[in-house]
Amino acid sequence: MDLFEHQAKELFAEYGIPVPRGVVAHTVEEARAAAEQLTGRVVVKAQVKTGGRGKAGGVKVADDAADAEQKATGILGMDIKGHTVHKVLVEEASAIAEEYYFSFLLDRANRTFLAICSASGGMDIEEVAHTAPEKVAQIPVSPLTGVDRARGREIAQAGGLPEAALDGAADIIEKLWAVFVDEDATLVEVNPMILTQDGQVKALDGKVTLDDNASFRQTEHEGYADKAAEDPLEARAKEKDLNYVKLDGSVGIIGNGAGLVMSTLDVVAYAGEQFGGQRPANFLDIGGGASAEVMANGLEIVLSDPSVKSVFVNVFGGITACDAVANGIVSAFKLLSERGEAVTHPLVVRLDGNNATLGRQILSDAGLPRVELVDTMDEAAKRAAELAAVGA
Ligand SMILES: Nc1ncnc2c1ncn2[C@@H]1O[C@H](COP(=O)(O)OP(=O)(O)O)[C@@H](O)[C@H]1O
Ligand SMILES: [Mg+2]
Repeated sequence: MDLFEHQAKELFAEYGIPVPRGVVAHTVEEARAAAEQLTGRVVVKAQVKTGGRGKAGGVKVADDAADAEQKATGILGMDIKGHTVHKVLVEEASAIAEEYYFSFLLDRANRTFLAICSASGGMDIEEVAHTAPEKVAQIPVSPLTGVDRARGREIAQAGGLPEAALDGAADIIEKLWAVFVDEDATLVEVNPMILTQDGQVKALDGKVTLDDNASFRQTEHEGYADKAAEDPLEARAKEKDLNYVKLDGSVGIIGNGAGLVMSTLDVVAYAGEQFGGQRPANFLDIGGGASAEVMANGLEIVLSDPSVKSVFVNVFGGITACDAVANGIVSAFKLLSERGEAVTHPLVVRLDGNNATLGRQILSDAGLPRVELVDTMDEAAKRAAELAAVGA
């Protein structure tokens, strides 16, 4: 889960990291009141979970409360890279002397953590990383030793920060490491980390990605969830413990195992090119031990997406053998018609692996309407795409 800038800064503040004073506003009136409360020059900042807000016109300095109201009028409701601005952060304007870049992230490729630091921070860091990579220090961080103040200072030095900023930066870097570890984050980024004209180092922006796999031990993170932006189908799937991600195509996908489902998405997208560009409508992994109920819940979620025209059930029988999955599909059909949601869309089923023959037998004996058995994954993907094109 990504946090909004204001949430990231609230979290930073809990760890003692210096951030500007700020107030969140959902309306122009609230923005004005926030500016009055803060007094003096303020910055009105769009709260959207995407970068490059400054360049998109989503970060504006305001001289006083009336100006803040006006700037908020322009920013609220704005679209930044497909994200609508529903709230702004009004914060005190800092007198910036220099802007630096700092982040901790999980470097999956090298199976380690990484600190990235540069004295050339701010809105053009991507450009700097591209044209002058030597100005961006990338330092592996061992999870066993972590980062203390002294190590933080070395990292800041490697990034080319000036003497005047080293102590302040070391302090922030040490505390950001604590945020990274204690909150189970996969990214904490501060761009810019600034040196103010009176010599303080502060976090002026904040981006935090929390690892959802740790949510079982980070129960208070639930409070960060952006309920308004959640896809309603994804929210319902989550309630049922299903691994479901909504996509924008027309072929519903159900499979067992994340790897199989991901390759199913590829195969369907490829096959769909022949049929007017049919694409997968979702990712849904029903997991290894899928019971009839899980299958019914999965089918129900997938079928309640109005853009779904056909469904491809792609199962490789393992510990849960194909006959169990086939029985699951049969019971799912029964369960759904009892719930008054009888399946009316075509379903293409490919069963392979443990007890495949028996599984196929069960399905054909059940004589379910609109269910087609196809032997191979490629053929099944093609058929599902074709049916989606017909239904579209
Ligand atoms: N509180 C602030 N005071 C002064 N300038 C700011 C403040 N917040 C942001 N800025 C300026 O706006 C730029 C962009 O803001 P930032 O929060 O980094 O948004 P983004 O990275 O999405 O463009 C910063 O690099 C900084 O120059
Ligand atoms: Mg930024």
